[in-house]
Amino acid sequence: MSRRDDGSGRDDAQPGILTPLLRQRESVMVYDPTHELSAAALRGILEAARWAPSAGNSQPWGFIVGRRGDATHAGIVDALSTANQAWAPAASALVLTLHQAALDEDHEVSYSDYAMFDLGQAVAHLTVQARSMGLQVRQFGGFDHARAAATFRVPAHWSVTTGVALGLPGTRGEEWTLPGWVQARARLPRSRLPLAAFVHSDEFGHAAGFLTDP
Ligand SMILES: Cc1cc2nc3c(=O)[nH]c(=O)nc-3n(C[C@H](O)[C@H](O)[C@H](O)COP(=O)(O)O)c2cc1C
Repeated sequence: MSRRDDGSGRDDAQPGILTPLLRQRESVMVYDPTHELSAAALRGILEAARWAPSAGNSQPWGFIVGRRGDATHAGIVDALSTANQAWAPAASALVLTLHQAALDEDHEVSYSDYAMFDLGQAVAHLTVQARSMGLQVRQFGGFDHARAAATFRVPAHWSVTTGVALGLPGTRGEEWTLPGWVQARARLPRSRLPLAAFVHSDEFGHAAGFLTDP
């Protein structure tokens, strides 16, 4: 039984209008360390990123992808912050996300101001695709970006942006093998600002009437 089905009410804030793929998404910290992601499944998840929209169809993203047990996964683990090293290595796949941050040396590849935005959309698509396949994702910024760029020989006009841990949520008591602070953090209630805090009409700071209209 997943924590989303445990009757704890943690889901209450997420209205039923959300597609189950989004309602059941959460940034999982506890992964099944025995789950292996097949090459076909991994390709499917990356296809979702591939088909994300981008400014002028520039597709300014890149992904350095490792599966648990391979050198890329180990290289990403080495660059993680101490806190992220506590939980992320159990994920079936670790991914570093990149966006093109400048023109290349020969100015042959155009550069878009929206590159990081486009990368974010690609990661969102990848996340939803993973959920549709029974997997969960936790993104992370806590890693040594310079070290990661050096390890994976990322060209200067690309920026190492975030990390993505991808795997099957642990359901067999895996959390008990993790440090107490991870267990506590993994159980924190999820919360969000109300719509009125960030949906404006007429002018910035003015809550939209349709938020309260019946
Ligand atoms: C850009 C970005 C960086 C993040 N960095 C970390 C991180 O370094 N470590 C971590 O445990 N979680 C990290 N997170 C996960 C967030 O804490 C999580 O998405 C947020 O608490 C909301 O939880 P939810 O995704 O389950 O709704 C990051 C998320 C994003 C999008």
